Amino acid sequence: MSLTLGDLSGVGFVSGAASGMGKAVALAGMQLILVDLDLPGLEATAKETGLPADDVYIKKVDISNDKEVDELFAEIERKFGRLDYAQRSVALPVQQGANTARSSTCPRRTLTRSWTSTCAASRAEIPLMLKNKPTESKEGLGSIVNFASWSSLHGHIETPHYTTSKFTVAGVTKCLCIGYASKGIRVNAVAPGVINTPMLAPQYRDAFNVSLIPLGRLGKADDVAFAVMFLLCPRAAFVNGTIYHAHTQFVQAQDGSASSAQRQVVQT
Ligand SMILES: NC(=O)c1ccc[n+]([C@@H]2O[C@H](COP(=O)([O-])OP(=O)(O)OC[C@H]3O[C@@H](n4cnc5c(N)ncnc54)[C@H](O)[C@@H]3O)[C@@H](O)[C@H]2O)c1
Repeated sequence: MSLTLGDLSGVGFVSGAASGMGKAVALAGMQLILVDLDLPGLEATAKETGLPADDVYIKKVDISNDKEVDELFAEIERKFGRLDYAQRSVALPVQQGANTARSSTCPRRTLTRSWTSTCAASRAEIPLMLKNKPTESKEGLGSIVNFASWSSLHGHIETPHYTTSKFTVAGVTKCLCIGYASKGIRVNAVAPGVINTPMLAPQYRDAFNVSLIPLGRLGKADDVAFAVMFLLCPRAAFVNGTIYHAHTQFVQAQDGSASSAQRQVVQT
């Protein structure tokens, strides 16, 4: 399925592009910079785009690491000279217990990963976008989409660290959108519900009671990618600072029987 919205041209940066929703956005097609921790996954994504090799640049980068991000963006500036779109969909696998306040496992990585990767990337992306020259066809200089979650909007007893980390993504989005709107950069976030990607461990995917989702199915990566493409698109010129819901709500189990695995998966 082609996700291109017609006028999404320019240089796009996708982190977390080896898998799931980041990969689905990458396959939408434009001049692309794709990064991830998973190099073979990136190579597979680049191949699947079908774009000429010159139009897809891949690199193994830890997007939460300031030094690696600085080096990457210096390289992007040298190679492409501009950046128009950016989205980051990096994710840590959600492990049952590892996210709970009661767990002995240190949740610091979960707590800080969303925050550090969102900040490290924004800090590098925005100065490069500010160097773009406005053109007649574009109202803005650039557009950024962060990956929030249903968990950026709701609490869940079993996942205080993941939930808090996703609240930080909403917070950064709400602040950056004010700071750079007048300069021509829009910052939004997408908030997916339960999406069937490798991030969902098979035991959660299989155990999830889809009857809790009014549409009766888990989301697909493409469902969310299309929402991301809309937010990135210059036609969404007046959409800024929104936490865009890419889910269909949840309903309460009639008999209150949601299993622990189901409750765990609901937190994503
Ligand atoms: N899948 C869901 O149900 C769901 C629901 C709500 C929100 N989300 C959020 O959506 C985003 C994308 O999730 P997904 O389901 O596509 O995940 P995924 O696991 O399929 O893909 C995530 C990718 O991020 C990469 N990654 C992780 N840390 C990285 C880092 N520091 N630097 C570079 N790359 C890194 C991984 O290697 C992987 O390829 C995440 O932020 C996740 O929290 C997912």
